[in-house]
Amino acid sequence: MEERIFCEELKAKVVSADDAAKLLKDGMTVAVSGFTLSSYPKAVPVALAKRVQNGEKIKLSLYSGASTGDELDGIWADNGILDHRMPYQTNRKVRAATNRGELHFSDIHLGVFPQNLMYGFYKKPDIAIVEAVGITEDGGIIPANSVGIMPQAITLADQVIVEINAENSMDYYGLHDVLMLPNPPHRGVIPITSVRDRIGKPYIDCPKEKIKAIVFTNQPDGHRKAIPITDTYTKMADHLMDFFDYEVKKGRLPENLLPIQSGVGTVSNAVLEGMRNSDFENLEFFTEVIQESVLNLIDDGKVAYASGTSVSPTPTGMIRFQQNVEHYKKYIVLRPQEISNHVELVRRLGVIAINTPLEVDIYGNVNSTHQFGSAIMNGIGGSGDFAHNGYHSIFMTPSTAKDGAISSVVPMVSHVDHNEHDTTVFVTEYGYADLRGLSPRERAAAIIEHCAHPDYKEMLKDYFNRACKVSKLQTPHLLNEALSWHQRFLDEGSMK
Ligand code: COA
Repeated sequence: MEERIFCEELKAKVVSADDAAKLLKDGMTVAVSGFTLSSYPKAVPVALAKRVQNGEKIKLSLYSGASTGDELDGIWADNGILDHRMPYQTNRKVRAATNRGELHFSDIHLGVFPQNLMYGFYKKPDIAIVEAVGITEDGGIIPANSVGIMPQAITLADQVIVEINAENSMDYYGLHDVLMLPNPPHRGVIPITSVRDRIGKPYIDCPKEKIKAIVFTNQPDGHRKAIPITDTYTKMADHLMDFFDYEVKKGRLPENLLPIQSGVGTVSNAVLEGMRNSDFENLEFFTEVIQESVLNLIDDGKVAYASGTSVSPTPTGMIRFQQNVEHYKKYIVLRPQEISNHVELVRRLGVIAINTPLEVDIYGNVNSTHQFGSAIMNGIGGSGDFAHNGYHSIFMTPSTAKDGAISSVVPMVSHVDHNEHDTTVFVTEYGYADLRGLSPRERAAAIIEHCAHPDYKEMLKDYFNRACKVSKLQTPHLLNEALSWHQRFLDEGSMK
């Protein structure tokens, strides 16, 4: 593994994970690599947890690009190490600890988080722990399956620990395109006018003297759920393809569409799988996470190019990617999340944003983050970066959740992440509602008609009709009833 360190003097920095973990002290702020369970550090976080299990008292704040796995988020939450967590997570243990009030979680737009770090809005990270495939002659760090906030973490931290993971080969060199933006008033135009443009370096600059420890590992990334493609998802994909077909016929989208952003999770991935059966070709992605479905579309010859900040397939998809990275490099570039999610580029390229909500309301507002208004699920992620600025802002969800016990279409969302001004199309397995140019009352009629599940349609119509009877105002509501819609599930114990 030493041959992965091209800087001779840094070879002396190779230590065990236990020794590297000694650099972490109570009260520190730690910034790590990692995005959607891809290329987060694994050995040093576990070594730190062992110290706590042996009786040391250590509380830390943790910054990452996005979600990390059980060897970091999970084990630190389990051992009470996390004090403050930003800007996103998907770990059940972190979620549970947050919802028990045991740690503070700040939910922040992923495209904005890195610049806020550089503006000095948050506590400066003391130490960065990053996973890499190797280190260049000058100390430059070559990322693996994600870039995320690595450039900002390395730039801001006083000390850097590098985990070189043998899981990912040196073939990764050239997959990444790294550029950091200067703070205003010195920021210029980002010179990307096409998804495949490269504007930076294939590694992250790091002064050699900052690298205090290098640890060799060989651990795969955390397990991502396999993807069940149910009838519901297939129908949702069909409705989305119908919408795209209609837009192409109208001359509002080119035949290969515009660059697509697709959200994270089961729903997005399963729906994109549906594109494999469509006639669309030469597709481009300008997205945050390159999920399994995008790799499949590349293999099918349907993708011209994909730009993201992380590759995040299932374990078998990851092995396929790792073994053929040389091939996939022709189709994929990974950028820092500040660039992959940058609003300037989302607007310029005309990105079609496709995200998944927990629930939508009849007037077009979207809740992506909170179950029943209170319990955090994951976080807003990059959905806001894309939804507010996309050419289209599409939200796709099955019409019900929890085996049909909950309608995903509600009178008023219990928490707002994306508002009526940003959403243009809702899709469920029952159809799509095109909300462009509709007034609130027109929107309600369209959403209930095309998206609601038949079991809830009459209830929603009844609510809307009664609200319209008592109010001629712009957005008619029966407030007590709208809120008690959600309270019912809390009372019934759906949160247990
Ligand atoms: N009320 C309460 N819970 C709901 C719900 C609702 N209306 N709709 C879904 N859920 C629950 C599901 O039951 C499931 O719970 P479980 O894990 O306990 O089984 C969980 O939410 C996830 O739902 P799932 O159907 O598995 O969908 P998913 O994996 O596609 O995730 C989101 C859906 C909304 C959680 C996920 O897309 C997300 O976190 N989005 C916000 C961030 C984002 O958009 N990022 C993209 C940026 S590029």
